[in-house]
Amino acid sequence: NRRVTIRDLARAKQRGERWPMLTAYDALTSRIFDDAGIPVLLVGDSAANVVYGYESTVPITMDELVPLTAAVARSTKRALVVSDLPFGAYQGSPQQALEAASRFMKEGGAQAVKLEGGRAVAPQVELLVSAGVPVMGHVGLTPQSVNTLGGYRVQGRGEAAEELLKDAKELERAGAFSVVLEAVPADLAAEVTRQLSIPTIGIGAGAGTDAQVLVWQDMAGLSPRVAKFVKTYANLADTLREAASEYADEVVNGAFPAEEHTYKS
Ligand code: KIV
Ligand code: NA
Repeated sequence: NRRVTIRDLARAKQRGERWPMLTAYDALTSRIFDDAGIPVLLVGDSAANVVYGYESTVPITMDELVPLTAAVARSTKRALVVSDLPFGAYQGSPQQALEAASRFMKEGGAQAVKLEGGRAVAPQVELLVSAGVPVMGHVGLTPQSVNTLGGYRVQGRGEAAEELLKDAKELERAGAFSVVLEAVPADLAAEVTRQLSIPTIGIGAGAGTDAQVLVWQDMAGLSPRVAKFVKTYANLADTLREAASEYADEVVNGAFPAEEHTYKS
C-alpha cells in the first residue's frame, strides 16, 4: 500500500516486465487510472493542448501545470506521479531546473519530473538527481522544440539514429531513471532499449520498448484527431456527445428532472 518508486521500475526492467504509463490532469480520472493499476501517471505538458486549448505545448506555464499536478497527487495512492517541466522552465541552467522541479514537488506533490532533450540537458539532469529529484528524460519528437523541428514528424531516421542513441545514453549517464522515446522508428527504439539499463517508455516507438505511454484523452477517444501510433480503447467523445444532447432534449421536453430526482417538502 505504498506508491510505486523508481526502484520498482528499475526492477521491472531487470525482470523484463513491460508497464503502462498514462497522462493525468485531474482528480476523477487520475483516481480511475490509479485504481486500474497504472503504475506511473504523467502530468504532461500536453495539458497545454488537452486541458488549456493551446496549439502547442510551448505556451503552458508552471502556474498552469502545478495545480493540475497537485490534483493528480491528491487523488492517487499508488501511482508514481511524474510532472513535465514546461518549456522555458529548465533550459536556462541547472539551477533554474532545480527551482522548477522544487515547485512541482513542494506545491504539486510530484515524486519525479520529466524534461525534454538529450545531451543539452545532461547538466540539468545531474543537478536534479544529486538534489534528490528523479528525472525522466524525453528524446525523439520533443514537442517543446516543434519550432526548431519544423513540425511534428518522426525523428531518428538515417544519420539521426546514432545521435538519438548518444542522447539517450547521456541521459542515463547523467542519472535519469527512465527515458521517453517519442515518434522514432521501432528498430531504433528497440536498439536504445537494449543498450540502456534504465527503462525506455515508447510513444509511437513500436513494441520493443520497456514501457508505453499514451495521452489518456487520445486512448479513450476524446481527442478529435490522433496520430497513427494511438490506439483508441473507448469512444468517450461519442458517449459524452450523446449524453449532452439527451440531457438537453429532456430539459427542453420536460422529461428531466423526474420524480426520483426531486426533493419533497
Ligand atoms: O506531455 C505529454 O503528454 C508527454 C507524453 C506524451 C510523453 O510528454
Ligand atoms: Na510532454
